Amino acid sequence: MSDIAHDRVVIFDTTLRDGEQCPGASMTFEEKLEVADLLDEMGVDVIEAGFPIASNGDFDSVAEIARRTRRAVIAGLARAIPADIARAGEAVKSAQRPRIHTFVSTSPIHLEHQMRKTQEQVIDIISGTVTQARNLVDDVEWSAMDATRTPIDYLSRCVETAIKAGATTINLPDTVGYATPSEYEAMFRRVRAYIQDRVANPERIVFSAHCHDDLGLAVANSLAALAGGARQIECTINGLGERAGNAALEEVVMAIRTRRDVLPFETGIDAGMLTRASKMVSAVTSFPVQYNKAIVGRNAFAHESGIHQDGMLKNNTTYEIMTPESVGVSKTSLVMGKHSGRAAFRDKLKALGYELGENALNDAFTRFKDLADRKKVVYDEDIEALVDQGIAVAHD
Ligand code: KIV
Ligand code: ZN
Repeated sequence: MSDIAHDRVVIFDTTLRDGEQCPGASMTFEEKLEVADLLDEMGVDVIEAGFPIASNGDFDSVAEIARRTRRAVIAGLARAIPADIARAGEAVKSAQRPRIHTFVSTSPIHLEHQMRKTQEQVIDIISGTVTQARNLVDDVEWSAMDATRTPIDYLSRCVETAIKAGATTINLPDTVGYATPSEYEAMFRRVRAYIQDRVANPERIVFSAHCHDDLGLAVANSLAALAGGARQIECTINGLGERAGNAALEEVVMAIRTRRDVLPFETGIDAGMLTRASKMVSAVTSFPVQYNKAIVGRNAFAHESGIHQDGMLKNNTTYEIMTPESVGVSKTSLVMGKHSGRAAFRDKLKALGYELGENALNDAFTRFKDLADRKKVVYDEDIEALVDQGIAVAHD
C-alpha cells in the first residue's frame, strides 16, 4: 500500500437508463429489479434507475427500485421541463436516498439546431428547473449535455447558475464521445477554478464525468476527469449505452484498483461481483460481451501462446496484471491451440490424470500439434482421445 491518501470516487451506474437507451437492450420490469438489486449488493453508490417521464413502465420500475433499495442513492432522470421533473420526483420519492438528475444542452450546436434557444434563455431554464427539483428532493444533480462542445466561459456560467439554484452534483458529459483525456481533464479544472470564489463552500460540490465511447476513449476520459477534480464517474455494466456505449464500470473500477500507484482513488465496489454483473446484464439484454472485452470478456484471463503459457505456469504475474479471482472468475484458462507449448501440454495432461514418459509425451505432443493445425481450439476430450489412442497403439 502506498501512503498517498486515496480519495473515494462515487460510482454512478446508469445501466438501467443510458444502458437501456442502446437500441435493442430494453429490459422487462422484473429484469430491471434484478439488475438494481445486484448493483446495490455490489456497492454501486448511485443507481440511475430510469427516465420516469419516458413511459409508464419506466416510471413503475424507477418507483419500485426506489421503494426496495436500502443502501444506494436512487436517481431518476428528467429533462429541463417542469412535467419531467415532477414525474421524476414522484418516482423517486419513496427512496431512502432520492436524487433528481436533470439536464439541458449547453453547446452552440444543440442550442441552435435542437433547442432553438439563446444562451440567456438556457441560463433561465437551468435556474428554474434546478430550483423546482430542489424543492422536491435535497439531492439534485445537474448535467450540461454536450459539455465538451460548449465554450468554457458559458459552460462555467451555467454551472454557477445550477449550483446557486441548489444542485450539489455537477455532471459534465462528453455526450458525443468527442473529447480527448487532456481536454476533458482541463475542462474540469477550468470550471472548478471558475466557481471557486463565486459559490458558497465550493468543496461540497461533487463534479461528475459521463463519457461515451465513440472514439474508444470513455474510460480514459473518465480517469482523466479524476485528475481534473471529478469525484463521480457515470458508467454502465459491459459499457452498454447509446451508440458505442458508455464508460464500462468494470474497467473503471479495475483500473483504479490495479493502478493505485498512479490513480490515488478508491471505490466502494465489490470487484469480485463484476463477472456476475456482466453475465446478468448480458443475459437480460441479450447483448453478447465481446470475447476480448477487458475484465469480463471470456478471453480476459485466457492464454494460448506457448511463451505466455510457460510464463503463467511458472508465475501468474508474468502475464496477468490482476487475478481472475479478483473479478469473480474462478481461474486462469490455458487454452490449448496451435500456439501452445510443451510445458502447457504436459500440465494439461497432468490435470487430466495422465503421467506420460518422455517418449510418449513427445509422441502425444506431435499429434496434438497436428490436430491443433486443423482445429481452432483443442478441447480436453480431444486431448484425452489422442493420448488414449497413442496408448492403445503402443499396446498393440
Ligand atoms: O450523454 C449524456 O449527455 C447524457 C445526459 C442525459 C447526462 O446521457
Ligand atoms: Zn449519456
